[in-house]
Amino acid sequence: MKSVCLVCALLAATSMLAAGQPGPSPIVDTTSGRVVGLFTKQAQVFRSIPYARPPVGAMRWKDPLPPFPVPGILQATEDPPGCPQTLPCVLPLPQFLCPKKVSEDCLFLNIFTPLTATPTSKLPVMVFLHGGNFLRGYSGGGLYDGQYIANTTSTIVVTVNYRLGAIGFLAFGEGDNAPKGNYGIKDQRLALEFVRDNVVNFGGNPEEVTLWGQSAGAVSVVLHMASLRSAGLFNKAIIESDPFSITLKDLNKAKKLGEDFVKAIGCKDIECLYAKSIEDIAEAQFAVLSKIVDLRHVLEIFLQWTPIVDGVDVLEQPIDVFTQGKITPMPAIIGTTSEETVFFIYEGFPKPLSAAELDLLELGIFGTHYPAVHNIYSPTKNQDNRPIAAVMGTEYTFSCSTREAIWGLTNLTQSSKARNPLWVYAFNHSMSFDWGKGFEFCNGHACHGVELPFVFHTANLGGLNYTADELVLTNTMVDYWTNFAHTGNPNGYINRAEKRPSKLLEWPQYRVDPSTGTKASNCLRFKAPNSEVIQDYMGDTCRFWDSIGYNV
Ligand SMILES: *[C@@H]1O[C@H](CO)[C@@H](O)[C@H](O)[C@H]1NC(C)=O
Ligand SMILES: *[C@@H]1O[C@H](CO)[C@@H](O)[C@H](O)[C@H]1NC(C)=O
Ligand SMILES: *[C@@H]1O[C@H](CO)[C@@H](O)[C@H](O)[C@H]1NC(C)=O
Repeated sequence: MKSVCLVCALLAATSMLAAGQPGPSPIVDTTSGRVVGLFTKQAQVFRSIPYARPPVGAMRWKDPLPPFPVPGILQATEDPPGCPQTLPCVLPLPQFLCPKKVSEDCLFLNIFTPLTATPTSKLPVMVFLHGGNFLRGYSGGGLYDGQYIANTTSTIVVTVNYRLGAIGFLAFGEGDNAPKGNYGIKDQRLALEFVRDNVVNFGGNPEEVTLWGQSAGAVSVVLHMASLRSAGLFNKAIIESDPFSITLKDLNKAKKLGEDFVKAIGCKDIECLYAKSIEDIAEAQFAVLSKIVDLRHVLEIFLQWTPIVDGVDVLEQPIDVFTQGKITPMPAIIGTTSEETVFFIYEGFPKPLSAAELDLLELGIFGTHYPAVHNIYSPTKNQDNRPIAAVMGTEYTFSCSTREAIWGLTNLTQSSKARNPLWVYAFNHSMSFDWGKGFEFCNGHACHGVELPFVFHTANLGGLNYTADELVLTNTMVDYWTNFAHTGNPNGYINRAEKRPSKLLEWPQYRVDPSTGTKASNCLRFKAPNSEVIQDYMGDTCRFWDSIGYNV
């Protein structure tokens, strides 16, 4: 009798776990092994799940491989290390954006699921790729924490580490052992395959996956949309602040950068590179940040270590992928912030920019188009010219090149019943809290990345508070983003978990009206508390940049 009851109790306990009821800890079987996470008040949280074999030793600069399953139990409770980068990392809001430690063994992902998620839930999944110039940042910390989204919107959030800098993108030399770049992109793809193979057990639906990225992560999303190798791994995209006019390096240029890097680190051959520590590598990759590899594409200096257009893993430049319609058809949300490059200009030029310096910058970047640009963005003597540079940079690098990309794609596909429906936004709010030490220049501005604490609703995890108006804004954005993950349309499907009443303004799909030539119809301008739909966003400005083209 007694023994039977013991079995009953055990069975009950097991089924409770399987049903995701608050037990001691959630346990899920994966291809990496059996992982044990945490029940928090809001969600089931699994941190630092390995999705690849550690890319260390002879596996440095090799394609990532699926992991050998770990026998026994994998504790998935600790914040992951960042992939190699210099510490302390130089990012705003470092308290919840920077890794505390780095390790070359860094191919981990984190999963956040609703408390009630079970293997039969089949909830939509959002896979997030972080930004940081392909050089810094990581998937852990507070900013990208998915608990709020999981809890209030019945959506599963996955955040992914991928190799960065020279470890992720170095191309040098010949032969099997030679670094060929694009490891970071292949890591992301392997993470998507892990999601495909395992997310059911966490309560997710592998057929409803939104690939979501910001900055370098947004560049990555576009490359995966274009890649046949990534086709079928996701069916929706969210693209936040892709610098569409910055060209990615081809193999030749990447190898030139590689040679500079190898010189900087003091090596002559590949064996020497494998013997170098991650600290040496991080230092040398910074040493070559200001090397101009191609005088015809000076803008590339703002994105030095990048995916390489190699014709295999990365087929085309991101802007061409859109304007030529060379992507897997899928719905997308895409947008920029109104003052993106205040961030980069003030970080790159810590001192006021003289008229002569701005002049040189315009000449260097725009070459034969210099007179036209100079005429409109005229350097002014005896004042700081960084504000002019920041306006020019935002327009050219982000707002107008993005507008060109979405116009091109929609113009191509609209007649074929919009197989690529787009919802376009401009984030136009400057957050009420400070950007942190070293980034004071962004206070009061809608800098690059400003929308992140709003789409994740995580300001509180960084010790920051929303104003009442900002609370409306963040809830609105979370609703649009997760509605989109659920249905492929940001509108309509409100208040799933009935945890937060929400009334959304209708966000009309982006359309091209060829008869008026209006390029940017239906752009949602996010503001606190009330957002609005505007037409021809930055039209007059962008028509000027269109005349120059986005391939200087
Ligand atoms: C829009 O598409 C039409 C028809 O394919 C084409 O002729 C036109 O050049 C395109 N316009 C732009 C701005 O891409
Ligand atoms: C919002 O957009 C307007 C118009 O483009 C601009 O003048 C203003 O500086 C923007 N505000 C922020 C905080 O970016
Ligand atoms: C945020 O609000 C909490 C509770 O009201 C308060 O204790 C804390 O000091 C506030 N933090 C900031 C940075 O204002």
